Amino acid sequence: MSGQTTAVQTNTLATYLEQLEKKDLLRFITCGSVDDGKSSLIGRLLYESQMLYDDQLAALEADSRRVGTRGQDIDFALLVDGLAAEREQGITIDVAYRFFATERRKFIVADTPGHEQYTRNMATGASTADLAVILIDARKGVLVQTRRHSYIVSLLGIRRVVLAINKMDLVDYDETIYASIKADYARLAQRLGIESVVAIPVSAVHGDNVVAASANMPWYQGPTLLNHLETVELKARQADAPFRMPVQWVNRPDQNFRGFAGTIASGTVQPGDRIRVQPSGRLSTVKRIVSFDGDLPSAGTGKSITLVLADEVDVSRGDVFTTADQPLECADQFEATIIWMSEAPLLQGRQYLLKTSTRTVAATVTPVKYRVNVNALEHEPAERLELNDIGVCEVECDRALAFAPYAEDRTLGAFILIDRLTHDTVGAGLFNFALRRSQNIHWQAMDVDRTVRAAMKRQRGCVLWLTGLSGAGKSTIANLIDRRLTAMARHTYVLDGDNVRHGLNKDLGFTAQDRVENIRRVAEVAKLMADAGLITLVSFISPFRSERQMARELMLPGEFIEVYIDAPLAVAELRDPKGLYKKARRGELSNFTGIDSPYEAPSRAEIRIDTTQVSPADAAEQIVDYLDRLGMLVNT
Ligand code: ADX
Repeated sequence: MSGQTTAVQTNTLATYLEQLEKKDLLRFITCGSVDDGKSSLIGRLLYESQMLYDDQLAALEADSRRVGTRGQDIDFALLVDGLAAEREQGITIDVAYRFFATERRKFIVADTPGHEQYTRNMATGASTADLAVILIDARKGVLVQTRRHSYIVSLLGIRRVVLAINKMDLVDYDETIYASIKADYARLAQRLGIESVVAIPVSAVHGDNVVAASANMPWYQGPTLLNHLETVELKARQADAPFRMPVQWVNRPDQNFRGFAGTIASGTVQPGDRIRVQPSGRLSTVKRIVSFDGDLPSAGTGKSITLVLADEVDVSRGDVFTTADQPLECADQFEATIIWMSEAPLLQGRQYLLKTSTRTVAATVTPVKYRVNVNALEHEPAERLELNDIGVCEVECDRALAFAPYAEDRTLGAFILIDRLTHDTVGAGLFNFALRRSQNIHWQAMDVDRTVRAAMKRQRGCVLWLTGLSGAGKSTIANLIDRRLTAMARHTYVLDGDNVRHGLNKDLGFTAQDRVENIRRVAEVAKLMADAGLITLVSFISPFRSERQMARELMLPGEFIEVYIDAPLAVAELRDPKGLYKKARRGELSNFTGIDSPYEAPSRAEIRIDTTQVSPADAAEQIVDYLDRLGMLVNT
C-alpha cells in the first residue's frame, strides 16, 4: 500500500483483521503428486477464494500466457509452483504453509511438493492438521502412493479425509468411475480407521466442484471442495488437557528479571499454579504470565508467553513445564514408529540426532522390529528402512527426554531424525511408549579411576584409530607402533579387524549394517581399554565417517586420535596381500571396500600417512613421536 492511509482505511483494515481473528481456522494438508493436479487444485482454491494480491494475479496471467500450457487461460499450477521458488530460497523450510480465508473460515494448508519426496513434507506438516485432502487421478484410481499417504494420515491421527477424485474431465465426467474409486477407497479407509471420507469428483483445471458446483456432473449432489472445507465440523480442542510448555529460551535481561519463554503445547496456566520442571522433576509456582499484551490472568494452547516463577529453580532451554501432578514420562529408550525419508537407508546402530519440540539428543535405532507393507497393511521383518518405508523400531537416546506418546500429544509425541554429517532430515517419528529395560540399571562408582590406572603405567590412556582401505598397511603399522611402545615399556593393545572378527564380531559380515555394528562394538571395547589406561590401537577399515565420528565422541576430549593410513585404491589393489581384491574383481566377493562398497576418507584426521611416500617404519616412528608430543607418554 503506497501513499497515506486514511483513518477510514485504517478502520476498515482494523475491522477486517478483527473479523478475521474471530473466524475459526481449519488446518489441512494435501497429499498427491504434481501429476495428480495438486498444484492446480490449490492454485484454484487460492484464486477463487480471492486471496491473491493484484501483483500476484498480474504475474500469474502473464506467466500463463508465456508458458501457454492452457492457451489463453490461467494455469493455476504456475501459481503454486511459482511460489515454490520462494520455498527454495527459504532453504530450511520443509513445508510451505499457505494461508487463505473466505467469508466463513480461515485456512492454513500445508503444501507438500510432489514426486516421491512427499513423505518428508507430509510427516512434518501433518501433525497439526485437522483434515487431509488426498488427490486421486480419476484415470488411475487408488495407487500404492494413495495407500501410503492414507496410512501416514491415519498414523498421524488425522481422522477426516477428502478424497478429491481429479481429472474427471479426462474420463468424460463418468459417474461409474467416480463410484468405483470411492468404493475402493472406502475399504482402505475402514481398515485404517479413517472415520470420515468425503469423495468429491473434481476437475482442478476446469474448476468443476472446486469452488462452484459443476454443470458437467449433475449426478453429483454433494458439496464442492471449498464448500466442504468451509463447513466441516472442527473438533473442539481439548480444554481440560494438562498444561505443557517446552521452554524455548530463558529470558534474563538483567538481575531483576528471569522468565521462561515458550508456546503452550496444551492446557492452560494461571498465576498460582503448581508446575513441575522436566526432566529434572523440580517443583515451582507460576508467579506471572508475561506477554506482548502485558501480564495475563491466564493463557491457553498455542499462546506464546513468558512465565516467571516464584522461586529460583534451575530451568534451561529444552526443559518442559507441566502441571505438577500430571508430569510427562521421562525415558531414554522408546518404541517408535519411523517414516524414513532419505535415499540412504536407516541403519541399525548408526547414530542420528533426534530432535523433539524440546531438545536434540543423539540416538540409535536398535533394532528395527518390523516394516509396514502399505499395500497389504501387514508387518514384514526388516533389518533396515529404505526411502519411504514406515517401520516400528526401538530407539535408544544418550540422554533422557520428557515425552508423551503421540496418540496423547501430537507436539510432544513427535520427533525428526537428522543425519549427523549432512544435517539433512532423514526421518520423522512418533513415540509409541517408553521401554523399561534400562530402568533398573544404575552406574556403579569405582574407587580406582582411570587416572590412577594410567599413572601406574606411566602414560595416558588413549585410542589411536587407524582407518584406511584393506591393504593400506593399517595392521603392519599398528604392529610396528605396538612393538616400539612395548620396547619403551608402555602398555598397549591392538584391536585388529581381522582378529576381532574371529571372536567378538564373528557373527558379522560386510553389509553396511554389519560394518556399523562392527565399529560400534570395537569402539565400545576401545573405550573400556582407554579407561583401563591402555594405549589402544584400533586397526579397522572403518569405512564410514559417521561411525568414526561416533567413536570419537564416545571417548573423552583429546583421547581419540584418528590416523588415516592413505593408499590410493590402485596401490592397495596392486599390493593385494590377501588376494581379496582379485577375488572381488572376479565377482567372488561382494561388498568389498573400494570395489562395490564405499570408503569415506577422513576429512579431519589428526594424522595422515601417505603410504606411497612414507615407509611403515617411518610412519610408526612419526605416530609414536606424535603421542609423545601430546604428553601421552610420561617421562620418569
Ligand atoms: S570394517 O569395514 O568393518 O571396518 P574390518 O576392518 O573389520 O572391516 O575387516 C576388514 C578385513 O576383512 C579386511 O582386511 C579383509 O581382510 C577382510 N574382508 C573380507 N571381506 C571383506 C569385504 N567385503 N570388504 C572389506 N574387507 C573384507
